[in-house]
Amino acid sequence: MSTKALEGIKVLDFTHVQAGPACTQLLGQMGAEVLKCEMPGSGDSTRNWLQDVEGADSLYFTMFNGNKRSLCLNARTAEGKDILTRLIKQSDVMVENFAPGALDRMGFSWENIQKLNPGIILASVKGYAEGHANESYKVYENVAQCTGGATSTTGFWDGPPTVSGAALGDSNSGMHLCIGILAALEYRHRTGRGQKVAVAMQDAVLNLCRVKLRDQQRLERTGRLDEYPQGELKLPIGDSTPRGGNAGGGGQPGWILKCKGWETDGNAYVYFTVQASAWGKICDMIKKPEWKDDPNYNTFEARRDKFFQVIKTIEAFSVTMDKHEFTKWAAEYDIPCGPVNSFKELAYDPSLRKVKTIVEVDHPVRGKYLTIGSPIKFSESDVEVTRAPLLGEHSEEVLKSLGYSADEIKNMIANGTTATAKA
Ligand SMILES: CC(C)(COP(=O)(O)OP(=O)(O)OC[C@H]1O[C@@H](n2cnc3c(N)ncnc32)[C@H](O)[C@@H]1OP(=O)(O)O)[C@@H](O)C(=O)NCCC(=O)NCCS
Repeated sequence: MSTKALEGIKVLDFTHVQAGPACTQLLGQMGAEVLKCEMPGSGDSTRNWLQDVEGADSLYFTMFNGNKRSLCLNARTAEGKDILTRLIKQSDVMVENFAPGALDRMGFSWENIQKLNPGIILASVKGYAEGHANESYKVYENVAQCTGGATSTTGFWDGPPTVSGAALGDSNSGMHLCIGILAALEYRHRTGRGQKVAVAMQDAVLNLCRVKLRDQQRLERTGRLDEYPQGELKLPIGDSTPRGGNAGGGGQPGWILKCKGWETDGNAYVYFTVQASAWGKICDMIKKPEWKDDPNYNTFEARRDKFFQVIKTIEAFSVTMDKHEFTKWAAEYDIPCGPVNSFKELAYDPSLRKVKTIVEVDHPVRGKYLTIGSPIKFSESDVEVTRAPLLGEHSEEVLKSLGYSADEIKNMIANGTTATAKA
């Protein structure tokens, strides 16, 4: 019996850069057979981005393209179009994130793809949704963070708009696409019908900024946003959701606190949540039992103009402790708090290795590298994390399985339709 959730699902991966590859990699980790199709010679442009080992595929490529096979396929030649046609006919899902209209220009519009395989699911990422005024524009990660509202609401009120270190535009769009594909597979399971699934990067970012649209509406209705620092600091709140620095955002106020060593270590900090329901425990923790029943402190409203005073009082404790020690201490009081982890810490964290969220894989050219395993854990299904393929590593075996003879393959290599590589 198969132990992988998506065993037997064939994914034709026509993706590049990050949004599409992140989606297909996750499908692969969950057991789908993913075939990455790339231009002979160059391949996915990220193979060469920020290379750290001469002659080896970059970490950008290898960390987003594990659990895949690689076929070199130039869909501009007649033979290339024939290969693509055969692949479409036998695939369950086709994923692409080329520029708007690129697939149509190749001759593979959604209408044509459907004719070839009515059960197929075509999944696409674009910068903007179909029908949007900017639908023809190309978009990269940080552009989407800006267009989706994340950037205008990130950073400090007296600083510029700031992009996040998390790939809210790219990987997040890929994760949304993955959810859409799984829903479409379930729909096909019931009806036998395929469909097109589209995710716009702007929409995927906006979907993560839901509370900021909530705040816009609250601001317009009431003229105030009490959990933002602007009120206490007597700063103008403006007429659109402002940047709140490190304020809570969701609903529970919080802030970043200095910990021991902050003067020299830029990550010696914790995030501390002043959860309303935990106020009594916070008072016990910071040795201020008198604040528990003091009407000047014991409600969120009463603390509204004293938030930074409260934070400073807590910080007097955190600054004497290591961030992990302080986190443990807060957990003893059941208070949500966590260390600001550096990537040096994350890369070597024994717990993350144990739960297989950080995984080491071996690559024939670059050697061992770290990648991020599936953040989704299953009680029954296995999740396997394998290395990224070399460009064209599986071209020959795939073309043979599609019915091409050795001579035909040789000709296609000679005329630039495909190329091969050996591991
Ligand atoms: C990411 C992006 C900005 C990159 O743009 P780009 O480097 O100029 O690449 P394109 O997607 O335009 O592809 C270039 C061309 O190569 C073609 N191409 C790529 N691989 C091919 C293949 N194997 N066979 C034939 N043609 C291929 C594309 O069809 C396209 O053709 P066109 O000239 O008719 O448009 C753009 O693809 C985009 O906006 N994608 C949608 C949003 C997105 O996913 N962005 C985030 C990526 S992380």
